[in-house]
Amino acid sequence: MTKAFNDRFLRACRRQEVDTTPIWLMRQAGRYQPEYRKLREKYPMLELCTTPELAAEVTLLPLRRFELDAAILFSDLTIPFLAMGVPFTLKENVGPVIAKPLQTEEDINALRIMEPEEDLPFVGESIRILRRELSVPLIGFAGAPFTLAAYLVEGGPSRDYSRVRALMYRQPELWSTLLHILAQNVIRFLRAQIEAGAQAVQLFDSWVGTLSPDAYRRYLLPVMQEIVGALKPLGAPIIYFGTGTAPLLEAMLETGADVIGVDWRVSLDDAWRRLDYACAIQGNLDPAVMLASPEVVRAEAKEILRRAGGRPGHIFNLGHGILPETPVENVQTLIDTVHRGVSD
Ligand code: CP3
Repeated sequence: MTKAFNDRFLRACRRQEVDTTPIWLMRQAGRYQPEYRKLREKYPMLELCTTPELAAEVTLLPLRRFELDAAILFSDLTIPFLAMGVPFTLKENVGPVIAKPLQTEEDINALRIMEPEEDLPFVGESIRILRRELSVPLIGFAGAPFTLAAYLVEGGPSRDYSRVRALMYRQPELWSTLLHILAQNVIRFLRAQIEAGAQAVQLFDSWVGTLSPDAYRRYLLPVMQEIVGALKPLGAPIIYFGTGTAPLLEAMLETGADVIGVDWRVSLDDAWRRLDYACAIQGNLDPAVMLASPEVVRAEAKEILRRAGGRPGHIFNLGHGILPETPVENVQTLIDTVHRGVSD
């Protein structure tokens, strides 16, 4: 018998009343799980992402073990680069490394606009498999243009992402061309995921916190509004997540996203107040708390629930991806604590 569909995550995205706070974890399928590490001994990361049966299986690993309220498609921020004609590798413990970082106008104009079902057919196929298996909503995702541009221009992870910001200030027209190409790719990619069955989408803007609010509004906001505006009519809630975004929250709300994801550097209650309660909020336990004792995990999780104050529209998550060293028992403790609620 199939389990009744659990819609508390989608209800919270829409700021509707829920029976208890929904929780999912960024990078919930990953190296902290022994089952994942075992699969990784057999398959390289990119093979897991590009083989529908494997991507679906990895997506399901955390849901088999824990009562999570949403699944997130197992993939990576770099997957669209395959369709855009940008060669890269995923370096263990480092992240994406671009073979030839973008430097010139020619490099940028050579970027392709994807045809998702032709270029990345495994994404739609993974989603269709998962929708048959899941009794919780499936989240699709893409990197947001600034974070994609950061990898493409810097060539890989960077201390302060100053090269990408320098391009933005020095060559604003070229920057605008780059952002529009990325936005078209993001729109097509997320539209295809929603059409295949993704019930919500998250835009990961991991490095956007390196921008000032003025720069955000001038160089990024219009393109973010274009993306949100293009996807909104499809009806799937849009989550917009970044780290180090405390100074940017009001500007991020202007994108029109349904849910804003915050990291742990800001208090959840302060962030939500500054967002004027005009959206749902996702977050924001420090992933490092998960390396402490179960008692500390419980206390810190409750503190976040207390700050959310029982207001409809809180989705519990970590402030960034779960760390590979996280003990599995602490994930169980966290989920139980959130579901039992603050008064327990
Ligand atoms: O949340 C989920 O469970 C879905 C899976 C997911 C992965 N990457 C799997 C992955 C998601 C949503 C991403 C997005 C992603 N990828 C982001 C945005 C989120 C964030 O963390 O800021 C970024 C910046 C990337 C780029 C990237 N890919 C990094 C930094 C790394 C980690 C490098 C490392 O080895 O620690 C990757 C590889 C990657 N993506 C792994 C996983 C599970 C580790 C791969 C492995 O070695 O098994």
